Amino acid sequence: MDSERFIEIRDFEAMKVAGEKTTNVDLSVVIPTFNESYGISRILRALHSSLEELQINFEIILVDDDSPDSTWKIAADLIEEIPELTVIRRLASKGLATAVICGWHYSNGRLLGVMDGDGQHPVEVIKDLFNTFSEDRNEVAIASRYLPHGGIKKWSLSRRLLSRGAQTLGQLLLPGAIGTINDPMSGFFIVKRSIITETELDPVGYKILLEILARSQTNKIQEVPYVFLERSSGKSKVALSHYISYLRHLLRLRIQPLRSRALVRYLLVTAGALTLDAVIFFWLFDVNNWNLTRSAALAGEGGILFTILLHDLWTFAGRPVRTLTDRIRRLVGVHIALGALMFLRLLAINAFVNWFSLDPLLAFLLTLTVVMPGGHLLGSRFSWRNIRV
Ligand code: GDD
Ligand code: MN
Repeated sequence: MDSERFIEIRDFEAMKVAGEKTTNVDLSVVIPTFNESYGISRILRALHSSLEELQINFEIILVDDDSPDSTWKIAADLIEEIPELTVIRRLASKGLATAVICGWHYSNGRLLGVMDGDGQHPVEVIKDLFNTFSEDRNEVAIASRYLPHGGIKKWSLSRRLLSRGAQTLGQLLLPGAIGTINDPMSGFFIVKRSIITETELDPVGYKILLEILARSQTNKIQEVPYVFLERSSGKSKVALSHYISYLRHLLRLRIQPLRSRALVRYLLVTAGALTLDAVIFFWLFDVNNWNLTRSAALAGEGGILFTILLHDLWTFAGRPVRTLTDRIRRLVGVHIALGALMFLRLLAINAFVNWFSLDPLLAFLLTLTVVMPGGHLLGSRFSWRNIRV
């Protein structure tokens, strides 16, 4: 193949995206592929017509890691039919995230997009993503499964749970604007080139969006809903190891640029509050024979007060000096956030005991270990949300 738009790369792994080009390309969409021969022609054609409807200058760059099923060849055969298509065949590198950075590095667009090559990302959503940039201030547009009108067509329960868990954890752990995104795991988005050029990107596993958001520190983000479709054929390459590397990535992003001392204290206070909660409960219920609901309610309150006291005096000591009104507001806020949790716990304990005849101590422990840690972390994160942990 001797087209300029078919590029073979031997051992070059771009970790940076080249700066603004002098061409007038508005949008470059990169499609990373590995063994997607079955549906790739259809997807390229469909994406091409969707982009044409926008009436802009665009390009499509497919980056294939030398797929044994010759996806790269099938795509390259379309180069004549689709004049905006470039195909990159990477001979010595593997990995979704580095493939995307590689494609962007070779691209010309002012806006850089990425979309899967297996038919799971509905092509027409690319237009919604692009159109968010008509608002000048926007810097990132994310296609999100977790917005009204968004969703997932067909996923196993375990994959759904894993994905949701990863999302919740991201929202809990990530600082600032990133923590508010509904779908931080999305692999379908567009970003303004200027916010990532000359930035060293080091994404772990699949999570390139996270890396971009963290490194660029942007908060000019818009999400548009989409439904994650079924694969046209083949299998997802997501493995459990991707979730583990996601966790590592979250922790790295979280701990590196921020004061990790506060994070450790924050977690310790939560653990302390739950321990105190348990001790008070056993003392009231088991030793003093108080009734179940009252013991659990008082124990929960002990945990809440402990959390407030320690976060204010220790975890976040010295940060924004607070007036008495601030402190009172905090007291009420935490009670609303954690109080709702307490109430749910009381309901759950009583339901376990009355309907399932569970031992009261067991019911208490169950709610303490299963529901409370997450709830507590979220509740206090919410109440102290204006302070960076
Ligand atoms: N070049 C290259 N190299 N491409 C790869 C590689 C690789 O090592 N691994 C996967 N791909 C390509 C696939 O061929 C597909 O086009 C795309 O990357 C997504 O891979 P899948 O294996 O289909 O991922 P998924 O469907 O489980 O998850 C996708 O969607 C999620 C929701 O948006 C990914 O995009 C996730 O990052 C995303 O969270
Ligand atoms: Mn897929």
